[in-house]
Amino acid sequence: MKNEITCPRIVEIKNTKIEAKNIKTIFFNFPSKNIIPGQFLMIWIPGLDEIPMSVSYISDREIGFTFRKVGEATRALYDLKKRDKIGVRGPYGNGFTIKGEKILVVGGGTGIATLAPLIEKILSTKKRRVTVIFGVKTKDELFFTRRFRNIDLKISTDDGSIGFKGVASELAEKIINNEDFDQVITCGPEKMMKKIVDICNSRKIPVQASLERYIKCGIGLCGQCCIGEGLRVCKDGPVFEGDTLAKIPEFGYFKRDASGRKIKI
Ligand SMILES: Cc1cc2nc3c(=O)[nH]c(=O)nc-3n(C[C@H](O)[C@H](O)[C@H](O)COP(=O)(O)OP(=O)(O)OC[C@H]3O[C@@H](n4cnc5c(N)ncnc54)[C@H](O)[C@@H]3O)c2cc1C
Ligand code: FES
Repeated sequence: MKNEITCPRIVEIKNTKIEAKNIKTIFFNFPSKNIIPGQFLMIWIPGLDEIPMSVSYISDREIGFTFRKVGEATRALYDLKKRDKIGVRGPYGNGFTIKGEKILVVGGGTGIATLAPLIEKILSTKKRRVTVIFGVKTKDELFFTRRFRNIDLKISTDDGSIGFKGVASELAEKIINNEDFDQVITCGPEKMMKKIVDICNSRKIPVQASLERYIKCGIGLCGQCCIGEGLRVCKDGPVFEGDTLAKIPEFGYFKRDASGRKIKI
């Protein structure tokens, strides 16, 4: 892609925001004009690691990524403060393609971070309408609810502490059974996305899902992130159409770790 920055650009953190327990956003200045919602950046934490992060905020000059503290690299990122420095390269991957006027967006957990700029892009065109399902385990894990206060937002929690009691894919199925949508777009736990893609494929509703695989180069060279018949998640994805996903046997079942070993999803 002609606008991607291929060597890490050292940027100063402009701001940070705690979104929920263990979930934080880091903001910095970076060329944002050509970023497509759903694309990701490679974030270099000097001396430690380089990891993929979706762009979660896109404004004229400033962008941000939102992450959950899960391991060594995200713990180190979580501890960074305003004026600390990170390396950033990208944006990489294809991003989402909006089709039609009435869109259902289904996010599970931090998957909603990837979807947030897409939701804003859908709403930037007056004729488009969006319904958003945000699924979490319990209400304390919710974030971005103020950001989404003017949209048709439906919440599901596994424990029923707020909204629909159950998983996001169950709520999505109920809604799809009652309403017609031109397209469904999803990002979150792969088992959730697999259920949604299967539901949409069986009803012939166009569907896109954003996949996570272990990313090393991020630019299609090393082959670490290959799925199906030689599709690279970093270059051909991370967003895939439902009919492509239907032909990928490992979708919803297994992924590979840094050494290429299979891990059950
Ligand atoms: C395209 C893409 C976009 C992503 N966007 C986000 C996001 O917006 N917010 C967010 O919280 N997380 C996102 N992730 C996941 C994030 O990259 C991992 O959670 C992070 O790398 C974990 O690193 P760690 O050292 O803290 O944890 P570890 O303890 O090292 O690993 C925890 C989990 O993260 C996975 N992981 C570790 N390193 C990588 C890597 N280089 N590539 C892919 N997965 C890895 C591990 O396989 C494991 O499942 C994204 C992943 C991909 C592939
Ligand atoms: S991470 Fe190297 S080809 Fe995708």
